[in-house]
Amino acid sequence: MANVLLTGGAGYIGSHTAVALAERGHQVVILDNFRNSQRDVPDRLLRLTGKSFPVIEADIRDTAACSAALAAHPVDAVIHFAALKAVGESEADPLLYYDMNIIGTIRLLEAMQAQNIRRIVFSSSATVYGQPDTSPILENFPTRVQSIYGRTKLVMENLITDLARTGKLLAAANLRYVNPVGAHPSAVIGETPTGVPNNLMPFMCQVATGQREFLSVFGNDYNTPDGTGVRDYIHVVDLANAHALALEYLLANDVAVTVNLGTGIGISVLDLVNAFEKTTGRAVPYKIMPRRPGDVASYFANPGAAEKLFGWKAALNVDDMCRDSWTWEAKRAGINDV
Ligand code: NAD
Ligand code: WQD
Repeated sequence: MANVLLTGGAGYIGSHTAVALAERGHQVVILDNFRNSQRDVPDRLLRLTGKSFPVIEADIRDTAACSAALAAHPVDAVIHFAALKAVGESEADPLLYYDMNIIGTIRLLEAMQAQNIRRIVFSSSATVYGQPDTSPILENFPTRVQSIYGRTKLVMENLITDLARTGKLLAAANLRYVNPVGAHPSAVIGETPTGVPNNLMPFMCQVATGQREFLSVFGNDYNTPDGTGVRDYIHVVDLANAHALALEYLLANDVAVTVNLGTGIGISVLDLVNAFEKTTGRAVPYKIMPRRPGDVASYFANPGAAEKLFGWKAALNVDDMCRDSWTWEAKRAGINDV
């Protein structure tokens, strides 16, 4: 059993990780500024786990607040989710992303050092690979970031690996994940995108609920089996479990590792539409539109390192992802006959 602080723990992946950690007997503390999450998430977590997690409303850029939080809640490790994650927004406002993601991480690491907390799991992204030459992607593939957001993720990784290399951190895991989708099967927690969703799965769900007229399929002329973009979608519950196993690995091993988290299966846009319609019985009308600038054709991960190091393997399939996404989104839209 460990005490763990989750920065951004009220967010999509953080909240699901809090459940996974609680299920494994760990004590969770949440630090979040609620910039991109709902304030009722801690109550939802209480409903799901029966545990009332301490919540500190603070910004990771506020070193004093982070230090005070860590002093008040001595933990064995930090899982660092707090960041901005929208590629388009990052290109429109680079300094915001450099400040929130990079300066924020430096301030957090300063607070950790002040409180002698020397183990961290970091939420990185497969976006650091850019367009890989081939898939499945291995961790030693070149990192060729193609966005401000991707660059902040790579810099954040480097900060952590440098502190591990110089002995300031005892243990670190940079987790590069692909495309998280889905929601907890209880539909008590899930993704709450604001405005028009950028990502495929939440947008598709909102077409199915009738909130959106049709899905724009961004390009069908890629060099992929059906011409549409291929990604490695991973259920957020599988991802949460991977974070818990990565934490436990770091508690037992003073090492720094970089690990891909994915299913190893490439799914095209039309594959996902077909799986969603089959699983939910809901239609997803779509139109083929021009490619979206910045999109890469295809990538999926080789999750072999995660299995070898953490004993983790994705257990949920694309039908589970569609079912749980739909149940959550339908509930949000007030549709009860799911
Ligand atoms: P999210 O926006 O739902 O969660 C992030 C949480 O961090 C939110 O609750 C937000 O309020 C909080 N936060 C943001 N800036 C903060 C700050 N300065 N101080 C304190 N709290 C702050 O996003 P998510 O999808 O849960 O992603 C979590 C992490 O995973 C991010 O670091 C993201 O880059 C990474 N990631 C996400 C995806 C994805 O597709 N969702 C893929 C790969 C990696
Ligand atoms: C998936 C596929 C689109 C929407 C993003 C970030 C990445 C990471 C995960 C943080 C692509 C197609 C999408 C739509 C579509 N986030 N699509 N119509 O772009 O692979 O990754 O989220 O780390 O950094 O870039 O995810 O869901 O937006 O797109 O046709 O309305 O669906 O072209 O092929 P993406 P996505």
